[in-house]
Amino acid sequence: MDTIKITIDGIETEIAKGTTVLEAARDQGIHIPSLCYLKGINHSSSCRICVVEVGPRLIASCTLIAEEGMKIQTNTKKVRDARRTSVELLLSDHDRECLSCSRSGGCELQTVSNDLNIRKVTYVGEKSSQEKDYSSPSIVRDASKCILCGRCVGACGTLQTVNAISFAKRGFDTVISTAFGRSLAESTCVNCGQCIMACPVGALTEHENISDVWKDLADASKYVVVQTAPAVRVALGEEFGLPVGTRVTGKMVAALRKLGFDKVFDANFAADLTIMEEGTELISRLASGENLPLMTSCCPGWVKFMEHNFPNRLDNLSTCKSPHEMEGAMVKSFFAKKMGIDPLNIVVVSIMPCTAKKFEGARDELSHEGMQDVDWVLTTRELAAMIKEAGIDFVNLKGEAFDNPIGSGSGAGVIFGATGGVAEAALRTVFEITSGKELDTIEYTAVRGMEGIKENIIELPNGQKIRTAVVHGLGNARKLMEAMERGEKSYEFMEVMACVGGCITGGGQPIVDARTSERIDIKAERAKAIYSEDEAQSIRKSHNNPYIKALYEEFLGEPNSHLAHELLHTRYVKRSNY
Ligand code: FES
Repeated sequence: MDTIKITIDGIETEIAKGTTVLEAARDQGIHIPSLCYLKGINHSSSCRICVVEVGPRLIASCTLIAEEGMKIQTNTKKVRDARRTSVELLLSDHDRECLSCSRSGGCELQTVSNDLNIRKVTYVGEKSSQEKDYSSPSIVRDASKCILCGRCVGACGTLQTVNAISFAKRGFDTVISTAFGRSLAESTCVNCGQCIMACPVGALTEHENISDVWKDLADASKYVVVQTAPAVRVALGEEFGLPVGTRVTGKMVAALRKLGFDKVFDANFAADLTIMEEGTELISRLASGENLPLMTSCCPGWVKFMEHNFPNRLDNLSTCKSPHEMEGAMVKSFFAKKMGIDPLNIVVVSIMPCTAKKFEGARDELSHEGMQDVDWVLTTRELAAMIKEAGIDFVNLKGEAFDNPIGSGSGAGVIFGATGGVAEAALRTVFEITSGKELDTIEYTAVRGMEGIKENIIELPNGQKIRTAVVHGLGNARKLMEAMERGEKSYEFMEVMACVGGCITGGGQPIVDARTSERIDIKAERAKAIYSEDEAQSIRKSHNNPYIKALYEEFLGEPNSHLAHELLHTRYVKRSNY
């Protein structure tokens, strides 16, 4: 490794060539505040909070590459004054209703202002004004809180290659805008919520449905069922101060009961159901050779990305509804019948790590006999907010188990939460179905890990080879899709998750500030928790879930049956790509 020597605050240090001054200082334990910088996503040097003195000049340290012999001062009066002026200017055009802001306590602008000991707003003048955009069922934009740092633009463009939002206009009139200033709902936004995760303030939030759920819980005529996605249980604890990667499954179930839900189901049950339906679909497509590769359809961000950008490939998407939609459909049919409840009185609430699930829940296609499969989708953050509002002592709750008969899942269902999980769960089942016997292999580690695109050739027991790609992050998905369009790549099976790492880092998960995400590999910690949850299960293959077997015996018949198609499968819509 090539190294150079620099001096920071009078202390000489040796660092790797190519390191920025900000990184070098932080490695030395020197705190330089930053706002617009988001490692790997936004390096625009627009906020100037991270300035340092190098000779006579003040320079933004986040993009300043250190040079041999450089002498840097991070804590002079000139530096502190410049940082304070930059923050005061941001505050002068910022909606400062902090007490009622959903990011209060977790706002990076608030932290920087406190750290710089700013106790009054010095500059008062004209304020930019724009209507809030509530058009999207997933994401709300509030320009009055935007500090134009560009982190959302980086997440949407650089990371996800969706490019639904960008800078528009100039000077004081500068805004973050969709193409032609349309509403977010009319744009190419796929609702993944990675812009929310990148935003340092409260300018981007989920479209809250908390009051809708409270209202239904208070209505005695409603039977309110809740289901939780696998990734929620490995992140919810962070909202209550528990370390990243803490599993809180039992506490989460107990909290949901205390909130008043009539049944608490695990969406892992429907993940198992998805494997039965999608595995069967894969086997039949392999036999016919049609519409290969089979592309997974569990991720609504990915599905909408395909609808906008690759409508010619919609037949490749699995026709399976995503797991929580399947669960909703089963609650309002099989479960309602079994319990003797009018499905019109049932409300299905999904707790998801994902903002795109809110859009998905409202899709016309995901309904049956005039009823949406899922009525409300809450993010992990919204669930935490409800638990806090109800005054539940979450950390000290005793663990409880999910309800049944459609509420328990296998270990295969759990791993849906991490990239590679759907592929691995499918392999556990497809291998046994094609071999016709119980196999010892449980873990298909070739599809695990955080590499952006993982390619494998998997040989089934019958000798058939399946070329598999596991992709996470829409930037990686676009790369792969474009290579396929050019004829450079071909597969039989593709698992795609819109968010880097999979659902564990979805746009509805607890927000981690930029500095913490530099220190802790959030996705690795949460993924570890997901795999340990799988290991803790006695049943780890979807087809061995006894409740799944009973569902087919008592109601659906067999995978891909006529009834299964009616209730568990869907279709897709071509959308404009501008
Ligand atoms: Fe460096 Fe904004 S200019 S963090």
